[in-house]
Amino acid sequence: MLHPIARVLVLASVVVLSGIAGGASAGDLERGKALHDTFCVGCHGASVYTRQDRVANTYGEILQQVARWQGNTQRRWSQQDIESVADYLAVQFYKAPN
Ligand code: HEC
Repeated sequence: MLHPIARVLVLASVVVLSGIAGGASAGDLERGKALHDTFCVGCHGASVYTRQDRVANTYGEILQQVARWQGNTQRRWSQQDIESVADYLAVQFYKAPN
């Protein structure tokens, strides 16, 4: 049995760690780039994300488009992978990180 103060400390560090995981970490961005560069460059280059009349502008819209395209192409990505790719596109091309 942990000392009560030790239990509080353990809980606090779990909260801090999950807080970090909720944002876009460097690891998420790297995974997003790897997934994107492997599966998403067959039809279009990055110019589709920066064209004048692009479909997505907010982070929510980017997320929707990534979900849509991984579905269209039968990738069956997890929600986490979808978010990693959306994070990567948002930061790298859309400049819309939120
Ligand atoms: C089969 C060809 C094809 C593949 C593979 C493909 N896309 Fe696309 N994608 C398109 C076309 C065509 C458009 C533009 C027309 C449209 O929006 O319907 C597009 C548009 C997009 C847009 C919207 C760009 C904007 O206007 O803001 C995003 C984001 C996107 N694709 C992401 C992805 C991702 C992520 C993957 C990998 C899972 C992917 N695409 C794979 C064909 C493809």
